Amino acid sequence: MGYADLHQRSVTDPNGFWMEQAQAIDWMRPPSKALFDEAAPLYEWFSDGMVNTCWNAVDRHVEAGRGDQTAIIYDSPITDTKRKITYAELQGRVARLAGALRAKGVKKGDRVIIYMPMIPEALDAMLACARLGAVHSVVFGGFAAHELAVRIDDATPKAIIAASCGMEPGRVVHYKPLLDNAIEQAQHKPEFCVIFQREQETAALIPGRDLDWNICQEGVEPADCVPVEGNHPAYILYTSGTTGQPKGVIRPTAGHLVALQWTMKNIYDVDPGDVFWAASDVGWVVGHSYICYAPLIAGNTTIVFEGKPIGTPDAGTFWRVISEHKVKSFFTAPTAFRAVKREDPKGEFVTKYDLSCLKTVYLAGERADSDTIIWAQDQLKVPVIDHWWQTETGWAIAANPMGVEPLSVKLGSPAVGMPGYNIQVLDEGGHPVSPGTLGAIALKLPLPPGTLPTLWNAEARFRKSYLEQFPGYYATGDAGYMDDDGYVYIMARTDDVINVAGHRLSTGAMEEVLASHPDVAECAVIGVADDLKGQMPLGFLCLNKGAERAPDDVVKECVKLVRDQIGPVAAFKLAVVVERLPKTRSGKILRGTMVNIADSQPFKMPATIDDPAILDEIRDALRGLGFARD
Ligand code: COA
Ligand code: AMP
Repeated sequence: MGYADLHQRSVTDPNGFWMEQAQAIDWMRPPSKALFDEAAPLYEWFSDGMVNTCWNAVDRHVEAGRGDQTAIIYDSPITDTKRKITYAELQGRVARLAGALRAKGVKKGDRVIIYMPMIPEALDAMLACARLGAVHSVVFGGFAAHELAVRIDDATPKAIIAASCGMEPGRVVHYKPLLDNAIEQAQHKPEFCVIFQREQETAALIPGRDLDWNICQEGVEPADCVPVEGNHPAYILYTSGTTGQPKGVIRPTAGHLVALQWTMKNIYDVDPGDVFWAASDVGWVVGHSYICYAPLIAGNTTIVFEGKPIGTPDAGTFWRVISEHKVKSFFTAPTAFRAVKREDPKGEFVTKYDLSCLKTVYLAGERADSDTIIWAQDQLKVPVIDHWWQTETGWAIAANPMGVEPLSVKLGSPAVGMPGYNIQVLDEGGHPVSPGTLGAIALKLPLPPGTLPTLWNAEARFRKSYLEQFPGYYATGDAGYMDDDGYVYIMARTDDVINVAGHRLSTGAMEEVLASHPDVAECAVIGVADDLKGQMPLGFLCLNKGAERAPDDVVKECVKLVRDQIGPVAAFKLAVVVERLPKTRSGKILRGTMVNIADSQPFKMPATIDDPAILDEIRDALRGLGFARD
């Protein structure tokens, strides 16, 4: 069957299509049907099946005689460590940790926050939760204590599993003080914490609350896999929305298993035993799906890489890892390639390694610019595939199904809808537009298995954010167009989300922090174009009359405030004091117009602008920062 027919069937016969795919998963009780649409427009998949994620990711491979195959390769140029863990070893590690958590009272449905860097123990922790049916929520290490506290209060975890530290180039990230500070800030207190002491730093433990990772596992009975319902939440992953309160995306257990299993052969073209590498972080959705779960579910070898594309030690690190570990499919963000290209434009490092194992490269997380794709293709001499997805979906909405039928690549497009995704481009009234016309990209409901059924503790917000704008559709928050062949082109976000170095951030959240500065009367944050990171946040600050501090000091304090409140990952380094902000007559700040001015893009003067002269003041301020050059 060609891909077009396969996709057609997935949309017209979702039950038949997905029940067939479900056969690739081990069930403790098979589901009676795939789609549960009784509560439409809220949908669920495989709800009455009983299944366990850890069994499918680990135990079943051992049972099938593949226990000696490497499950995880840990490669850390930052700490100069390399280690391999087989599926049989992984089973032992995970069952012991799950046993220790169970002994302390963690059971099905309890939440567990995981705050760990890129080490195999992070995967152990995720899988141990899955083994017990506990719901994990991994928090990225680049967030500050306040962000962790917000997630603790929303997820109300029984336990937190953390490492003593993370390692950034030239800097140790002291996780434990961040964790202690977050617990102090949060209203909700976990019953206990499990701390993995890394060689690089031993953290002080708080007696009665903190347990040592190794000591708490001594003498415990290893835990077996606990069957859970198909619609049981596998995990919660917080992502940026319009406000400072992050959205808790829920991943349903069975749909996640079925969808991810399907993607490994059909999108990423790998078979059991092949080595697959996603150079992301377990704190992001790419890390959940393609460092931890999908490659293990499909019986691949996954790589946990603790390093950066450049500087650890050089721009050849990616090629060294690919060549040394025989990576067949490699997944990264365009920004990582831009960083490598900047350091090694001629690809001199590429020629130092035998990359004959590499068959395909995949890019996601932000718009992939043509220059970067062409550069990577020229250097690596393999197809470079852009694919588009979101934390909410957990797997690609649009991609090139390389394992089914490689489609022709069109630069600038992540290709076509994946199974079950019916992609439509709509005008403001919710009507489909003709090919080539820009509009809001929406997905006709139901979304396929594995995608979010709702938001944690926030069903009304789920409906409002995604379902109400275009009834019958899921609003992606992305704008773009489709061509005559059904290839989609993703051009911009329609909301306040920006994408900095492949990291999804909320300008609204940054504005909330800036507004808390005592001298700031009003503010706006926009994303300006950046050659390396795609976008960078830039803040405009209007000060109170009679503000005590000098404008330069306020700027410095605001930069520090965002770093302390949201974290270094926000990369908030640019801010400028202005007299006034441009607004519509009804008082809405014209952020889009400011972005156009900063990026030197032509724009139409908004008809509703209150005072056009303010735009000249904004242009001058931006020029002072090196932007808005004609
Ligand atoms: N823990 C703690 N701090 C972290 C962190 C982590 N896990 N990850 C990043 N940070 C910090 C960085 O150290 C940096 O701090 P600094 O301001 O003190 O320098 C800050 O957050 C900003 O990080 P980043 O935006 O990543 O910039 P960078 O200059 O360190 O690196 C790239 C630039 C392009 C090399 C890097 O962003 C990269 O590899 N990006 C790929 C992103 C990716 O894989 N995304 C996943 C989606 S697929
Ligand atoms: P995240 O939830 O962090 O994965 O970010 C999702 C958002 O990143 C999407 O809504 C897009 O705005 C952007 N994005 C992800 N992949 C792509 C891509 N291939 N092309 C363009 N934008 C992308």
